[in-house]
Amino acid sequence: MNSENTAQTEGPTAYPSAAPLEFRHVGKRYPGADGAAIEDLSFEVPAGEICVLVGPSGCGKTTAMRLVNRMIDLSSGEILLDGRSVNDRKPAELRREIGYVIQQIGLFPHQTIAQNIATVPKLLGWDKRRIAARVTELLELVGLPAEMGARYPSQLSGGQRQRVGVARALAADPPLMLMDEPFGAIDPINRERLQDEFLRLQREIRKTIVFVTHDIDEAIKMGDRIAIMREGGRLAQYATPDELLAAPADEFVAKFVGADRGLKRLTLSHLGDIELTDGVVVKVGDPAEEARRRAADHGVEEVVVLDGGEKPLGRLPVARLNGQPVSADDADPLAAIGGRSTSLRDALSLVVADRNRPLVVVEDDGRLAGLVSLELISDALRPPG
Ligand SMILES: Nc1ncnc2c1ncn2[C@@H]1O[C@H](COP(=O)(O)OP(=O)(O)O)[C@@H](O)[C@H]1O
Ligand SMILES: [Mg+2]
Repeated sequence: MNSENTAQTEGPTAYPSAAPLEFRHVGKRYPGADGAAIEDLSFEVPAGEICVLVGPSGCGKTTAMRLVNRMIDLSSGEILLDGRSVNDRKPAELRREIGYVIQQIGLFPHQTIAQNIATVPKLLGWDKRRIAARVTELLELVGLPAEMGARYPSQLSGGQRQRVGVARALAADPPLMLMDEPFGAIDPINRERLQDEFLRLQREIRKTIVFVTHDIDEAIKMGDRIAIMREGGRLAQYATPDELLAAPADEFVAKFVGADRGLKRLTLSHLGDIELTDGVVVKVGDPAEEARRRAADHGVEEVVVLDGGEKPLGRLPVARLNGQPVSADDADPLAAIGGRSTSLRDALSLVVADRNRPLVVVEDDGRLAGLVSLELISDALRPPG
């Protein structure tokens, strides 16, 4: 939290900008219900991390969230925010201090976007100038043009409304954000965009976030840690996405993450994370004899041709070397080129589509970085540690 905020929000709201959250043997039984919605749930979320709760419908995800900001009360156990039990806090106060984003975000229809975003700052008694400045800042933060502040919710698309929901939840710089299937009602293309934007935003704001979804792919993408829950709020596994995919704790988790968990794991790593092979490269103008010798030394039938600036131009089958110096005209153009940010999954797909020939990878400036082969990609799938 910046010093200005700390000075103006005294007393119980003087949190750091992100606080750790802990569930300690949490139980919740709804009045009149047969079993417990949550029996005995314990986990910790370090400050500044995204923890995703994922599991089948009815397993208690929403219940877990609503216990945190005391929209409902605990039956047993404790929830600690920044080391302090939420039971010691006034519910209304807690709700002001915890950002809450839900699927149908419930913007107030008769208020402008700016007024919607200003809801909590107003409750906290901020002065007009400070509120206006914060609204402007937040619209920019979530990627909406400033003019949109004057519009009404019905004049926005679903994706834009969802961004406003995020801005509203962030308004008072909360130490914790609860997001319950926030992108669930958005079409797949816009959902992916919102996910990417939100991850970029989180790199800036570093809030503690509890994010609920029933979509394992969304969980893998968004989570620093993932809590896989099953009926009765039981924790099936709590782990990083990579651990979860590499070593599911049991049959339930294995089924939930899917038989393609190896491929999913490949989406978590990028070509920049692994050591590429050098491959056999020649430059335009190199003598044919030298190119042939180098290919023979490495036992390959094909070399990569570079221009004078080390940029790859194509692949040249050794058989095509005809005694003339190496020329780009004789090379086959590259079907695809990878970059350091290409995921291993995309790299695999490109290699397989190119008859298993290693993928040529370049740096941002277009110079050759190296090659990635099928073997390198499968090596990356070995269990961690
Ligand atoms: N207000 C309520 N009263 C009684 N039972 C409820 C209430 N809300 C949720 N439940 C029950 O608690 C369990 C967990 O629900 P919920 O937390 O909404 O699951 P999820 O969000 O994972 O789909 C379900 O069996 C659900 O029927
Ligand atoms: Mg729910």
